[in-house]
Amino acid sequence: MNAASGPVIVPSMLAADQSRLGEECRALAAAGADRVQWDVMDGRFVPAITVGPDVVAACRREAGVPFEAHLMVEAPDEAAPHFVRAGCDLVIVHAEAARHLHRTLAGIRRLGARAGVALNPHTPADTIAHVLDETDLVLVMTVNPGFGGQRYLPAMEPKIAAVRALIDRHGGPIELEVDGGITDVTIRRAASAGADVFISGSWLSRHPAGRAAAVAELRTAAGQPDEVRA
Ligand code: DX5
Repeated sequence: MNAASGPVIVPSMLAADQSRLGEECRALAAAGADRVQWDVMDGRFVPAITVGPDVVAACRREAGVPFEAHLMVEAPDEAAPHFVRAGCDLVIVHAEAARHLHRTLAGIRRLGARAGVALNPHTPADTIAHVLDETDLVLVMTVNPGFGGQRYLPAMEPKIAAVRALIDRHGGPIELEVDGGITDVTIRRAASAGADVFISGSWLSRHPAGRAAAVAELRTAAGQPDEVRA
């Protein structure tokens, strides 16, 4: 974990009230979210179809919190420019969908955004070993992408640790994000394995004490990692 900045807590907009996304962005910003994640699904890379760039752009005007787009799409090179223009500070593409990943990441940076690469549960850590110079963030999926509310996969912890080792050896300011089944319990395991950015959808949005309490609880828990034998 980046000791200077501490854990980064990022609510997933997939779990937000889809009928009032702009207000939800404002509420999540007020609740202390460091940024929010837009789960972009195209009905091909994953079965569901979610938001497009116009919705993101409309919400961009509503809240001052940074936006990241997690592109679960078959054609990331086509989609990425639209989400940069819509106001996303960070665009994450899946290694499994980007045939020319190195070029795709460099292209996102040339558009003025930070670039991230996501790995599905079956994809090995060293898939990203040769693109770290072009990468600002690595996302290790802790569920199979496509749905909220799934159970966290502890089997991903050795891969989180392997990505952490690759990033530390590289030495660049690259964030390590996890996404899927993140709660006050699983965040400690993922933090101990080496993650420093945490996406949470259903657990955060359904917290009985509200979002601000949920964000604070996740931030505290991430700062107290469990001893996990990776
Ligand atoms: C799933 C998405 C996740 C999901 C997280 O494909 O990438 O961001 O919304 O939701 P929870 O925290 O409910 O697993």
